[in-house]
Amino acid sequence: MTANGPAGPRVKGTTPSTTPPRRKEAKRAASPGIAAARIGVVLGSTRPGRRSPGVGRWLLDVGSAHLRDSWPGMSLDLIDIADFELPLLDESVPAALGTYARPHTRRWASAVDACDGFVFVTPEYNRSLPAALKNAIDYLFAEWHDKAAGLVGYGVLGGVRALDHLRQVLAEVKVADVRTAVTLSLSDDLAGSGVAARPHQCEQARRMLDEVASWTRALEPLRSR
Ligand SMILES: Cc1cc2nc3c(=O)[nH]c(=O)nc-3n(C[C@H](O)[C@H](O)[C@H](O)COP(=O)(O)O)c2cc1C
Repeated sequence: MTANGPAGPRVKGTTPSTTPPRRKEAKRAASPGIAAARIGVVLGSTRPGRRSPGVGRWLLDVGSAHLRDSWPGMSLDLIDIADFELPLLDESVPAALGTYARPHTRRWASAVDACDGFVFVTPEYNRSLPAALKNAIDYLFAEWHDKAAGLVGYGVLGGVRALDHLRQVLAEVKVADVRTAVTLSLSDDLAGSGVAARPHQCEQARRMLDEVASWTRALEPLRSR
């Protein structure tokens, strides 16, 4: 799971601000000339018995070695929104103003802020993304900005309708979603609590991560402004 707490990066303060603060601290160098970059794999469902942890672990299995070999300095970290116990949005001030009063919001902001890019792992619920994922996105604003994202969907039809809705939501918080997505069928690709993906889906996952990695690098000047 991702790093939280006082040792983490910027945590929003309670001082009112009309301009959301941006992350400016220097990135740790992975090696000379290569900045480290963390891609957060956000698990989009929270119900007991959910399948998103298995799908997230599968992505790490397929993608971690690929990133290590092809994109030095890039790493994947699971971020489980269930760990943050976010109630339905309970901040009185809109996230765009960057003033967070609740401890759970600050913990969540710290975890998202620590990421340079994302992969969202989401099932389809009633033709859309789960309310828990939408709620988690709504909590924050500047922490999402100028970061690339890949999408992994699952459902009867591979979660494609959830992915389409998620793309619309991400645009509003200035996340740049990449074209290639992974879609997993409940009947053909999920087995028990894990994934039994076919070879073309593993290839699709690597291609999606390549796009996330290249856009993460390309957007770095915007994030460090
Ligand atoms: C509330 C709810 C609504 C669902 N609606 C859809 C749907 O519209 N389309 C679909 O393909 N699957 C639908 N499903 C099936 C889920 O995609 C499937 O159960 C999946 O495993 C849920 O993800 P989770 O196990 O991580 O919670 C729905 C499941 C739930 C719980």
